[in-house]
Amino acid sequence: MTGRLQGKTALITGAARGIGKAFAERYTREGARVAIGDINDARAGEAAADIGGGCLALRLDVSAQESIDAGVAEAEDRLGGIDILINNAAIFDAAPIVEIERASFDRLFAINVAGTLFTLQAVARRMIARGKGGKIINMASQAGRRGEALVAVYCATKAAVISLTQSAGLDLIRHGINVNAIAPGVVDGEHWDGVDALFAKYENRPKGEKKKLVGAAVPFGRMGNAEDLTGMAVFLASAEADYVVAQTYNVDGGNWMS
Ligand SMILES: NC(=O)c1ccc[n+]([C@@H]2O[C@H](COP(=O)([O-])OP(=O)(O)OC[C@H]3O[C@@H](n4cnc5c(N)ncnc54)[C@H](O)[C@@H]3O)[C@@H](O)[C@H]2O)c1
Repeated sequence: MTGRLQGKTALITGAARGIGKAFAERYTREGARVAIGDINDARAGEAAADIGGGCLALRLDVSAQESIDAGVAEAEDRLGGIDILINNAAIFDAAPIVEIERASFDRLFAINVAGTLFTLQAVARRMIARGKGGKIINMASQAGRRGEALVAVYCATKAAVISLTQSAGLDLIRHGINVNAIAPGVVDGEHWDGVDALFAKYENRPKGEKKKLVGAAVPFGRMGNAEDLTGMAVFLASAEADYVVAQTYNVDGGNWMS
């Protein structure tokens, strides 16, 4: 049986672990050749070795323009062109409004927003030059759908990702490049362990309690896992999504409707 992404190539940022790694695994199983671009190059190398199937790793820091330029050029060379980009790298922080530090704000916007836009730009330029179109998927979040106490900055970055997806989607479709986004809800993994620790601190809870509460509140009945998101990532990268433009899809067990 041939995979749904047979013969395609994909660059996935932040795929050394978590959701991005699950995307890299699934894309590889679907017949794509994948480059993992992560700031943690040692862990990216381990992930690529685990996945096998020609998956490769390279260092890419989405907060530094030179690193984006070098990483995207390397991915294009080694893959022989980029058909699909998943802008997945992001970081999280939490704090009450009165305690937010400018350095945290700057770092979150540099990675989650500028990183998404300028990686998208670097790849889109190459897709346009190649003349074969492409698919770009940005990782938004339910956090981008509404604000949350303690999570102001992260929520604002993900609202910006939804907005950038709309603008880039409308701009780039004339080149045959589809830009869409996925908005997960709460997804178990190392990322959420960090989120849980921050809520434990600010809401004075035992470790693990916030995770249990958010999981129990999901209409589906549990937290998501990275694999829950891979079907949407395959669909948006496939020809079946050719007429899907500038959309953000909630894949969150029913947490949000829009
Ligand atoms: N886990 C969730 O509950 C959840 C919910 C909604 C949205 N998301 C989004 O999904 C995506 C993946 O989340 P995850 O849970 O797998 O996160 P994660 O923290 O497990 O993984 C993030 C990856 O990004 C990499 N990274 C960090 N800074 C980078 C940089 N400057 N350049 C390149 N790589 C960098 C990290 O090394 C790591 O491998 C993120 O965009 C996140 O905001 C996650």
